[in-house]
Formats: sequence, C-alpha cells, structure tokens
Amino acid sequence: MSSVDLPISPSLFNATLIERHDLSEALSVVRIRPDGGELPPFEAGQYCTVGLPKDAQERAAYPANDPRRLIRRAYSIASPPHRREELELLVIRVDQGQLTRRLWELAPGARLFVDPKIRGEFTLREVPAGSDLIMVATGTGLAPFMSILREHWHRPGWPLQTASDFRRWRRFVIIHGVRKESDLAYRAELESLAREDPDFHYIPILSGGREGDGWAGLRGRAPIALDPPTYRQIVGSEIDPRTSHVFLCGNPSMITDVQKLLEGRGFVTHSKRQLGNIHFERYW
Ligand SMILES: Cc1cc2nc3c(=O)[nH]c(=O)nc-3n(C[C@H](O)[C@H](O)[C@H](O)COP(=O)(O)OP(=O)(O)OC[C@H]3O[C@@H](n4cnc5c(N)ncnc54)[C@H](O)[C@@H]3O)c2cc1C
Ligand SMILES: NC(=O)c1ccc[n+]([C@@H]2O[C@H](COP(=O)([O-])OP(=O)(O)OC[C@H]3O[C@@H](n4cnc5c(N)ncnc54)[C@H](OP(=O)(O)O)[C@@H]3O)[C@@H](O)[C@H]2O)c1
Repeated sequence: MSSVDLPISPSLFNATLIERHDLSEALSVVRIRPDGGELPPFEAGQYCTVGLPKDAQERAAYPANDPRRLIRRAYSIASPPHRREELELLVIRVDQGQLTRRLWELAPGARLFVDPKIRGEFTLREVPAGSDLIMVATGTGLAPFMSILREHWHRPGWPLQTASDFRRWRRFVIIHGVRKESDLAYRAELESLAREDPDFHYIPILSGGREGDGWAGLRGRAPIALDPPTYRQIVGSEIDPRTSHVFLCGNPSMITDVQKLLEGRGFVTHSKRQLGNIHFERYW
C-alpha cells in the first residue's frame, strides 16, 4: 500500500481545536469547540473520547466515512459542566503515543472527532454531602478533579453567593504527584483557591528534582501525603474512613498501591456491587 493520503470524510469530524496551551514541552491544556456550539450535558469527573485520523496506510482498510479510520482515546474533562461551549482537557504527550503524537502536530482550527456520548462513573454521585474528599492524582490525573472543583467554585453567579452555599463537601484536599515543577498544571488556580478557602488544601509533590533546586514543598510520590502525621500537619485533621472518600486518578500503579494502603486502614473500594469510599480512574 502506498502512503498517499487517502481522503477521510469531513462528516467524521464534529469539533474544532481552539488552542493547545503548552505548560511544558509535553504537557498541554487543550481546548476544543464542538460543532453546534454545545456539548451534551455531563457530570464533573466524566471523560470524553477524542478521535484523530489514523495514518493513511492504516485507514485504507476502511471506507472514507468509517469511524474505524480514527484513533480514539479517552480524556477526562477538566472544564466544569456549566461550560458546555467548549471542552478543556489536560493532556501529556506520551512517547511513541498514537493519538498524542498527532494532537501535537495540529494547529488551531484543525478538525477532530469528539464522541457525543460523554461517559464515566468517576463522579460525586454516590458520595454523601459533607464528606471529606481526598483527591490523589498523578500527572494528568488531576483533570477530573479540576472539573469537580470548578463546578462548585466558578458557577455562574459566583461570587454573589458564599462558598458554603455551593459546597457539597466538608474538606477538599488535592494531592498532586508529578515529576517536575512544570508538570504542576493549574497550580496558580489551586493555590489561589487554597488561600481563599481554609477547607481546601492543595498538596503538590515532586518525585524528581533535588535539594537546592528551589522546591520548598514535599518530595517523593503522592502517597506520602497520606501518611497520618504528614496529612495531619498539612490538613489539620485525620483521614477517617467513616467520613472520608478518596478519589485516585492517573498512573495505575499509584492506584493499586494506594488502594492497598487504604484498604489496610479500613477503607472499602467502591464498585457497582458495593458502596465504598475508594474511587478510582485508571488511565492505562
Ligand atoms: C478514562 C480515561 C481518562 C483519561 N484521561 C486522560 C487525560 O485527562 N489526560 C491524558 O493525558 N490522558 C488521559 N487518558 C489516557 C489517554 O486515553 C491515552 O491513553 C493517552 O493520551 C495516550 O494515548 P496515545 O494514543 O498517544 O498513546 P498510546 O499509543 O495509546 O500509548 C499508550 C501507552 O502510554 C501510556 N500512557 C497512556 N496515558 C498516559 C498518561 N496520561 N500518562 C502517562 N502514560 C500514559 C501507557 O503506558 C499506555 O499503554 C485517559 C484514559 C482513560 C481510560
Ligand atoms: N513528565 C514529563 O516531563 C514528560 C516529558 C516527555 C514525555 N512524557 C511522557 O508522558 C508520559 C507520562 O508522564 P507523567 O510524568 O505525566 O506520568 P507518570 O509517569 O505517571 O508520572 C507521574 C507521577 O506519578 C508517579 N508515580 C509513578 N508510579 C507511582 C506509584 N506507584 N505510586 C505513586 N506515584 C507514582 C511518578 O513518580 P516517579 O517519578 O517516582 O516515577 C510521577 O511523580 C511518560 O510516560 C512519557 O511518555 C512526560
């Protein structure tokens, strides 16, 4: 098969790339506008599916308007449900990645596919109001927590009402583990919220870098913040399985490790069959 660019039907595309704002050489905030001006309704914490054309050779096996001509990948939505005019995603370019490699080649205005069905169970739906929410993210696993936070903090009408009118949690803690400081996406927004609200705690943790590089925060991997004395010192409370729900998102090995750690401390993994207080979204 030659590598000539086989046509792909314009009808496979239903959205436009507005911007890829680079936070570092591999990490970007991506904004996408759906045709028709509005996304379907969705819940904070859910994900969408984005599609881009496969290489010409791969797509040659399918007719021009066949969706199998697209590579599709899931992305947690970082924007809140009341901002349906565009999607905001936090995406890392994976080395040798199929879709992310292509995404980094696009310029604003490029056409792409966004599955009109938005999916996912990683939401606050089954979490009792008034719980302590402890969100543990590695890398881009921060995205769904931004949607959940923003749903409550940046509603239309804000700041006319007070924070407590909106809040359906007692404390909200974000633990974000990344390799280097430039991977701390949304840091300014989260630091600003933490200054405003004494019940919101933002705990960034670096696994890379070294002493003397100017980093004054915690070093290591995200779970160190769940160590009781460390957590107590930063948040000023205990991690209590009777009142806390822990959400884990990102690297699957972090999820497995933290799940094991918390189950040993009386937490129960949430599933369709059993209400629990450990919730997770594996990215791969
Ligand atoms: C429910 C869900 C939500 C997701 N949300 C996001 C998101 O908000 N942002 C995001 O960047 N990715 C997210 N992902 C991952 C995303 O779907 C793709 O897997 C990722 O962008 C790589 O796609 P690719 O085609 O470039 O790489 P592929 O060719 O598919 O290679 C994938 C390999 O890269 C690794 N990998 C995949 N995703 C990541 C990642 N984020 N960080 C580190 N290594 C990774 C894994 O080893 C995986 O096997 C999510 C995945 C799921 C299932
Ligand atoms: N981040 C970058 O600068 C960069 C640059 C170019 C390309 N990429 C591509 O992007 C991909 C994703 O990189 P990423 O840095 O966002 O994601 P990642 O590899 O999942 O690492 C994010 C954070 O998760 C930590 N982690 C890994 N396993 C863990 C565990 N079991 N428990 C707790 N924490 C754990 C890592 O710590 P450790 O550091 O200790 O592993 C790191 O702090 C890479 O695989 C690469 O393909 C990334």
